[in-house]
Amino acid sequence: MNKKMRKILTLALVVALIGTTMVSWFLKKKKKKKDTVTIGLSLPTQREERWVRDKETMEAYAKEKGINLLVQVSDADAKLQANQVENLLTQGVDILILAPHDSKSAATLVEKAHDEGVKVISYDRLIMDSDVDLYISFDNIGVGRIQGEYITNKVPQGNYVILSGAPTDNNAKLFKQGAMEYIQPLIDSGKINVVLEQAVDNWEPKNALRLMEQALTKSNNKIDAVLAPNDGTAGGAIEAMAAQGLAGNVPITGQDAQIDAAQRIVKGTQSMTVFKDTRELGKAAIDAALLMAKNDFPNTEGKTVNNNKTDVKSLLLTPFMVDKDNIDKVLIDSGYMQKSQVYK
Ligand code: BGC
Repeated sequence: MNKKMRKILTLALVVALIGTTMVSWFLKKKKKKKDTVTIGLSLPTQREERWVRDKETMEAYAKEKGINLLVQVSDADAKLQANQVENLLTQGVDILILAPHDSKSAATLVEKAHDEGVKVISYDRLIMDSDVDLYISFDNIGVGRIQGEYITNKVPQGNYVILSGAPTDNNAKLFKQGAMEYIQPLIDSGKINVVLEQAVDNWEPKNALRLMEQALTKSNNKIDAVLAPNDGTAGGAIEAMAAQGLAGNVPITGQDAQIDAAQRIVKGTQSMTVFKDTRELGKAAIDAALLMAKNDFPNTEGKTVNNNKTDVKSLLLTPFMVDKDNIDKVLIDSGYMQKSQVYK
């Protein structure tokens, strides 16, 4: 072997060595990535207290399970949410948990995720017109039924204000559908007179306040009951009633078991709320994501919900009615909130 050949051989050996080291480093890295599951979580807002709790629960639970959870919050902005989801996909998430601000436009985000081989869980709000892989929520028609049954029991006749949630949110439709099962027959029989029936854009309390003001003016302050879809909108409507000295005289519904709503319930200005344990919801979503990342799937016991395109496999948790009679038991004894927070 001459000098030149030896040189070439040594060079070839060095190159081969570097090559093997790089390949094994790459494989190791890939394996490591596979061992830790990365979940992307896209939330629509943190405005309502419940979404803050969803986020906290999921972060804590993911940590406990050794999951890498990447969280993005879009503040009720569909465009921003779309950008954030794309960003999560670029970061190589294994599964995407998506609670859409806009239930319809989010369908394209499901497609984008699927293009990257990423399965999508529709969280709390159903993503319409899409092939979303799983829907985890509460029985939302059931939420509406609890509200409708409660308010029509309290006020079986009289002047009603019927508010519903954001038109961009499929849940708003379901809540109203459930409530109207109780209210509509009484409208049809002439017992209930609807003074105002309106959706509250973006679920914003200040929009509910404005609508309630309109209803009070229109009826000369003669409102007997208010269907408010959640605690935030109930808070706005109660503020408008308080300005007329009516808070506490007019039964009004709510939903979410927010601390301010619990305080109003014990004070008597809000009649009820619907408790949805978002701690359970958050954990269920993380557990499902973990299974799906391993090409497994949670047992949905044949339950599906149609989203205009397909029957989406669904896990639906149970909502509970809370009023001043059971608030201590349901919200305080369960550790959801503290007595000192409720009774100020
Ligand atoms: C949720 C409610 C919440 C509302 C406003 C709905 O989709 O189910 O719990 O109050 O959005 O954020």
